[in-house]
Amino acid sequence: MKNILILISGGGSNMAAIVRSAQRDNWAQQYQAQVAAVISNRAHAKGLQFAQAQGLATQVLDHKAYASREAFDAALAQVIDAYDTPDQPALVVLAGFMRILSPAFTQRYAGRLLNIHPSLLPAFTGLHTHQRALDAGCQFAGCTVHQVTAELDHGPILAQAVVPVLAGDTAQSLADRVLTQEHLVYARAIAQLLQNR
Ligand code: GRF
Repeated sequence: MKNILILISGGGSNMAAIVRSAQRDNWAQQYQAQVAAVISNRAHAKGLQFAQAQGLATQVLDHKAYASREAFDAALAQVIDAYDTPDQPALVVLAGFMRILSPAFTQRYAGRLLNIHPSLLPAFTGLHTHQRALDAGCQFAGCTVHQVTAELDHGPILAQAVVPVLAGDTAQSLADRVLTQEHLVYARAIAQLLQNR
């Protein structure tokens, strides 16, 4: 069985969508893969409650308890590596995980570390993507699932979804429209990856 670990910092709606897809589409049988645990760098991340209610293992690793980014990332790697199975390294899925990861970390998980970003990359890397799309006068916005590399929001693109920008949109209304698509596209991209491995 291949373990999937989902890393969150907040609401965890993408994580919940992935967990639901895995259940609905029976990833255990189809791909011999399972969501094994949800890891958060914030103790009060709302998504942890959903994960626990689903009977998933949860773990909190507070980044503030570590002296450096490298020390936190090393501790995180130790937690993750405990989920490798003899013939299957774990898949690491960032879902609203608000940490910049060190090059050593991204290198260690190269090819099995995914992220979802709320813009049509390569446009609008970083934060405040929806406001920036509005300010630029974009007529379309969206989200991108990509492999994570050392350069923030720059890894190979696995999937994207596009939504229209509508008259009167605010950053929030646009974020809501994009998030609905994130929930579909992330689980689909993971399933595809599991199928092709
Ligand atoms: C999503 O928009 C994701 O693309 C971004 O942060 C948000 C997380 O939302 N990185 P949630 O925690 O999955 O609800």
